Amino acid sequence: MAIEHEVETTGLVGWIDRRFPLTSTWKKHVSEYYAPKNFNFWYFFGSLALLVLVNQIVTGIFLTMNYKPDATLAFSSVEYIMREVPWGWLIRYMHSTGASMFFVVVYLHMFRGLMYGSYRKPRELVWVFGCAIFLCLMAEAFFGYLLPWGQMSFWGAQVIVNLFSAIPFIGPDLSLWIRGDYVVSDVTLNRFFAFHVIAIPLVLIGLVVAHLVALHEVGSNNPDGIEIKAKKDPDGIPLDGIPFHPYYSVHDFMGVSVFLFIFAAIIFFAPEMGGYFLEANNFIPANPLQTPQEIAPVWYFTAFYAMLRATTDPFKIVLMIVIALLGLLALVRARGKWKLGLPALAVLVILAMAFTESKFWGVVVMGGAVISLFFLPWLDRSPVKSIRYRPFFHKVFYGIFVVAFLTLGFLGTKPPSPVSTLIAQICALIYFAFFLGMPFWTRLGTFKQPPERVRFKPH
Ligand code: HEM
Repeated sequence: MAIEHEVETTGLVGWIDRRFPLTSTWKKHVSEYYAPKNFNFWYFFGSLALLVLVNQIVTGIFLTMNYKPDATLAFSSVEYIMREVPWGWLIRYMHSTGASMFFVVVYLHMFRGLMYGSYRKPRELVWVFGCAIFLCLMAEAFFGYLLPWGQMSFWGAQVIVNLFSAIPFIGPDLSLWIRGDYVVSDVTLNRFFAFHVIAIPLVLIGLVVAHLVALHEVGSNNPDGIEIKAKKDPDGIPLDGIPFHPYYSVHDFMGVSVFLFIFAAIIFFAPEMGGYFLEANNFIPANPLQTPQEIAPVWYFTAFYAMLRATTDPFKIVLMIVIALLGLLALVRARGKWKLGLPALAVLVILAMAFTESKFWGVVVMGGAVISLFFLPWLDRSPVKSIRYRPFFHKVFYGIFVVAFLTLGFLGTKPPSPVSTLIAQICALIYFAFFLGMPFWTRLGTFKQPPERVRFKPH
């Protein structure tokens, strides 16, 4: 039974309500949105992501008032913001720190989803919208990083845009089209500015709205991974649910306060974060004639960057063998459906034989690492959602996966060496084995029976 939201009939609110769904929207999405009562620490990060999104938009608007998207002026306009514009340094540090904190918050938010199986039916679209948000966020950060027109901005963009040229047939033309020039130039800066300040933010905001609409359609998951909508009182209210407002608005306010303490501490005491949030090389104006010794992306991209670098010639062979084995396994499992499986395997084999360039495979590996996330809802076949009720070895697998991802992130910040490349290759294999092996390993082991009602200990 759907909950009826009563609306005002008198006064100003009544006047508005007869013309616009103000009270009913507030009730449906806030004061009468029933969220499970057992939310924990991990449920802070959605609202924090919203906070950081607003921070980025507001500080971005103020930065744009003094920034000049022109290759001859961009670097000095940022210096001008830092030194001459009243409070300009604060606005800029809020924006640059906000970019890194966005990724911290979103990575933790995604990890929560992974732990509690929040991507499983009926929340597949919440997850898919989330993954699209993650892609957009990466694009937004990449475009934004060119704008200060420092050495890292320039050479980072040069490296990443050049990657597109590894795509067969269309690659070279594609990277020329993205740059708008034969090298990263003023033309590139102008279009990246357009993407960064309007195109991507519009898509991002649209996706965040879709993410929340989808979530409110199906209701929130929780650390026990049980559907609270399955048990309702006679008024149609979930027995294990409490209204988002005031209970979780107050709860989130606490999270926001703690977050702001940390955020302010970084801005005021360590805005460069030892070169992780703002790289030393980016305090040098872009010089197309001088390549920096080390080109490394900002920390939030380094795990994927390490996978790209790890794709050497021998590793490419290993990958091809893995792909062929997986294709065979899929064929065996497809049993009667040979008609579908065979052409797919043939395409893979042709791809592997025709495109032997490691750079191409590096791009495939890096792209594949992000794209795999989209398929999570259909890869995980465990009978329970939450990690709490899964066998111990599942927890070990999650642990190994996280360690492999963090190791990749660390290695991506360092210059490559034969040993670090080998470690990165092992970690990349673990990353893909975790996802691609999911249809098999997630079914194995002895699962605990989840409780009938959520487990909740009032403080
Ligand atoms: C701008 C970035 C994002 C914003 C503002 C955002 C916002 C939110 C909010 C406010 C919630 C509800 C509160 C909560 O459960 O924490 C939520 C839930 C959720 N988000 Fe996001 N999100 C973002 C990115 C992502 C990404 C990148 C993913 C995954 C790839 C994701 C997956 C989920 C899932 C699965 C839920 C439901 C969790 C549950 O019910 O247990 N989100 N998001």
